Amino acid sequence: MNPFKYGQVVSEEDFCPRPILMKQVIEFIKAGQNIVLQGERRMGKTSLIHEASHLIKKCSILYIDLLEIKDVDGMCKRMVKAIISFEQQAGLLEKILRTLAHLRPIISVDALTGKPSISLETVTPLRPDSINSILDLIADIGKHQTLIVMFDEFQDILNLKAAKEVLAILRSKIQFHNKIPYLFAGSVRNQMHDIFTDPDSPFFKSAIPIEVGAIDRDQFKRFLKNKFLLGKRTIDDGVLDIGFETTGDVPGDVQQYCGALWDSTNEKTHIDKQYIPQALRLIFSREEKGYESILVQLTGQQLRCLKGLAQLGGTAPYSGAFLREIGISLSSSVKKALMRLERLRVIYRYGSEYKFVNPFFKAWLLWKNW
Ligand SMILES: Nc1ncnc2c1ncn2[C@@H]1O[C@H](COP(=O)(O)OP(=O)(O)O)[C@@H](O)[C@H]1O
Ligand SMILES: [Mg+2]
Repeated sequence: MNPFKYGQVVSEEDFCPRPILMKQVIEFIKAGQNIVLQGERRMGKTSLIHEASHLIKKCSILYIDLLEIKDVDGMCKRMVKAIISFEQQAGLLEKILRTLAHLRPIISVDALTGKPSISLETVTPLRPDSINSILDLIADIGKHQTLIVMFDEFQDILNLKAAKEVLAILRSKIQFHNKIPYLFAGSVRNQMHDIFTDPDSPFFKSAIPIEVGAIDRDQFKRFLKNKFLLGKRTIDDGVLDIGFETTGDVPGDVQQYCGALWDSTNEKTHIDKQYIPQALRLIFSREEKGYESILVQLTGQQLRCLKGLAQLGGTAPYSGAFLREIGISLSSSVKKALMRLERLRVIYRYGSEYKFVNPFFKAWLLWKNW
């Protein structure tokens, strides 16, 4: 079994320790402090908090994922679902039913597991004030046990038409839940910034910011080497270094790289640099269709910009050298192309630099040498 896990939350033996960050997070949680976790996608924000909840004794996590929520109704339902999967006890179910009676919850019993579950069969979509009662219920659960509440991909709350109102409701309730640490994680930096550092936002300075960056390379190397040993493989440091470089130290992508090295080698292999191309080709073959479906959506100029970013890097896409190299004369054309690529989530801005969302897409473009 391939021991490298990616695209999922990792914990316990799959979680590479990050002691400094973990200590900080645990201290804040124990103090009931609200935290805002920032970091690029696949850096390990969600895993960090799940692992923290395992490490803190008798503590449970109420996990609410707001990824791609579209409206208030959807948000309320996600919150209620999170509460239900948090506590499947009959006693609590009854309580949920009572507290949320006005949302007309419907109980059904899962035919396979025999477990009861609740759905909200509202005829009219739920409105922002429903959030109040759901938050009251969370406060109530928090009275009886040590609770962490995590709102993940919190920036997607800005998708809601009533975003401002919803944020105001959340903030006004949460500030009275002072025993419960609320954690807000997000991957889209400028939007998280708007929520937590804009003086006009209800969440202005409401939580302590923590940056979730790369895992310390030496620590991560030890962790990864031990995983290779599980399958009687050894690996050169240099091969891991190239993995860190190629992926920009994003842990999820490093794990994917190692997973591909594993899949393309046998027991008793010593993995040196000659195994890298075949591992990357394995990743490309799994992802190529996705890359191609992006390319067909691009105009010629957008494609040239993208290739330029792969070849020259994304630090100075408006420089004379960059424009000359990609054969576009106007920086305004580059700007438009970059905006499109950003909208398609092919690249993202990190400070003033443009980076590939998927580092293997970049490696593929270079490999194809178009
Ligand atoms: N501490 C860690 N140890 C090992 N791998 C990690 C760790 N944190 C994250 N990862 C890798 O990154 C992937 C994404 O982690 P996740 O917590 O979902 O990131 P995020 O929430 O920041 O998008 C995981 O599937 C795993 O491959
Ligand atoms: Mg996450």
